[in-house]
Amino acid sequence: MSKLIEQLREKRNLTDEQLKELIETDGYDKELFASAVDIREKAYGRDVYIRGLIEISSYCKNDCYYCGIRRSNEKAQRYRLSEEEILECCVTGYDLGFRTFVLQGGEDPYFTDERICDIVGKIKKRFPDCAVTLSLGEKSRESYQKYFDAGADRYLLRHETAGAEHYRKLHPAELLQEKRMQCLRDLKEIGYQVGSGFMVGSPYQKTEDLISDLRFLQELQPDMIGIGPFITHQDTPFREFTSGELTLCLRMVAILRHLFPEVLLPATTALGTIHPSGRELGLLAGANVVMPNLSPVGVREKYSLYDNKICTGEEAAECRGCLENRVASAGFQIVVDRGDRKNFK
Ligand code: SAM
Ligand code: FES
Repeated sequence: MSKLIEQLREKRNLTDEQLKELIETDGYDKELFASAVDIREKAYGRDVYIRGLIEISSYCKNDCYYCGIRRSNEKAQRYRLSEEEILECCVTGYDLGFRTFVLQGGEDPYFTDERICDIVGKIKKRFPDCAVTLSLGEKSRESYQKYFDAGADRYLLRHETAGAEHYRKLHPAELLQEKRMQCLRDLKEIGYQVGSGFMVGSPYQKTEDLISDLRFLQELQPDMIGIGPFITHQDTPFREFTSGELTLCLRMVAILRHLFPEVLLPATTALGTIHPSGRELGLLAGANVVMPNLSPVGVREKYSLYDNKICTGEEAAECRGCLENRVASAGFQIVVDRGDRKNFK
């Protein structure tokens, strides 16, 4: 084993210079990925947790330059699911073995705190053995507290990039990096299992930004880390930029597994979109979670964050079956489990 990977394994850390070398070269990939799989195996065996993703709204008041459902995209098709539709998705998902439901959406003012709490409460009442994860963007601490009191267990809010200058290039001035980071700290203090993360290969990203991402995550110590390639969307200001690269993304997954041995790390849909075996390769680089789509097929295409998103035509059961095979082909197995973060207190 090379000295660099040995040190990464032992210290669970590297200097900025060493990280730069690891991120920018492909010479370590093979041993880096094998070592990451070994670390995830010690923490989680060969188990893969599944999360049923329910995309509840494609309305958004924000205007992130990379995102297909940004408010200025007049071509975006807008929809929102009713409470009944969301609950139906959970019923279907439960029968398919899902024990975590992720409600994700744009920042849609229709979904008031009252509505969100109502939906969370109903899901938890009907499926007491399931976890509810929310991914609904930036809210006040009071709102996060209300959702938590209503029964929400986890919250996903990617920090997107920890580089201050880079953040400004990806977002309009009204969106503040400090606010997003404060949201993450609030969520942790309230007691959620918290997920953060970033896009790999987003426009203007430098290696230094990726290193800042790792340092920010080391400070935050999240329970989940979602990363995936930036993927071009034709109707956004970033239409001319190319999508992030598969290998860089896999390398970042493997580095994260070394820095955070017990973190929940998904092989994301975006990874599966830029390469036909992207999610399997993600698992073979240290990921241990997959998040198939449980949204009604009729709305899937409308939740278009980026071009050519996969799994927009399949029914939930087909997606589940397809993933079962993909996960098995990589040598892992899907388990029926809430899939909480190991040692979460
Ligand atoms: N509104 C919530 C939020 O801001 O966290 C959740 C929805 S948002 C669409 C979910 C994630 O999609 C973002 O955190 C971002 O990283 C990712 N995303 C958006 N546009 C993308 C693109 N073009 N390529 C890859 N990922 C993208
Ligand atoms: Fe709001 Fe993408 S700009 S979800």
